[in-house]
Amino acid sequence: MEYLIKQYPLETGALEIQYIEEYFGEFPRKKTAQEITDRLRGREYLILMAEASLPDDTGTVVPVSFKVVHELHEREEEPKLRDLVLRLKDRVRFDGRKVLYSWIGGTRRDWRGQGHFRALTEESEAWAHTCGFHEVVVKTKNRFYDMRGTLDQLQFDVVKYEIDPSDNRESKVYLSKQLTTDVLLAHTSARTVVFAD
Ligand SMILES: CC(C)(COP(=O)(O)OP(=O)(O)OC[C@H]1O[C@@H](n2cnc3c(N)ncnc32)[C@H](O)[C@@H]1OP(=O)(O)O)[C@@H](O)C(=O)NCCC(=O)NCCS
Repeated sequence: MEYLIKQYPLETGALEIQYIEEYFGEFPRKKTAQEITDRLRGREYLILMAEASLPDDTGTVVPVSFKVVHELHEREEEPKLRDLVLRLKDRVRFDGRKVLYSWIGGTRRDWRGQGHFRALTEESEAWAHTCGFHEVVVKTKNRFYDMRGTLDQLQFDVVKYEIDPSDNRESKVYLSKQLTTDVLLAHTSARTVVFAD
């Protein structure tokens, strides 16, 4: 199967993400287009969406999976990112290295298990490698079992586990992957990438 991936510029991409997140019942707080543009403006980022046919109408193609990654600096101004760097600093080396943060992503329920998220992840890794990134980090929670299983299959290593004392299911799991040439050689998805306006 060849995956169809669209790469978006900032404003259009932010609106598309806001739109697709409406389909995700499990996301407690959906991101607005404003939040997305505020976060990504002025830094390196990649907004990707996979598109696929509707099962009952193969002529109609819709966005089914998305992924947003961005550069994470050692010194961040935004409080959430400053906090993230602080929590990661003893496990991830920032000095003289480019670190990528895999911020948000998901696949619409009816299209899960078909490789769309792997295709987006592999495309983001190929892009990141070309842009000189050394490592990609991601954060999830204990209770996000689908995401944990997927990150496991995509060979992310756990670098930190922060226990939530009141509810272990809310505990945070931080994972990372070194973006070596071997990682790119291990990619398995065939992808066509088009650029949206
Ligand atoms: C996690 C998620 C993005 C996976 O998307 P997907 O398009 O179904 O993933 P893919 O089909 O590309 O699968 C990628 C790999 O992960 C594996 N995988 C997918 N879902 C899995 C699951 N629930 N458990 C274990 N492994 C899983 C696949 O087998 C595949 O491995 P392979 O390529 O080695 O065979 C999707 O389930 C989702 O959107 N879940 C909700 C998101 C979420 O919980 N977010 C919380 C914030 S972190």
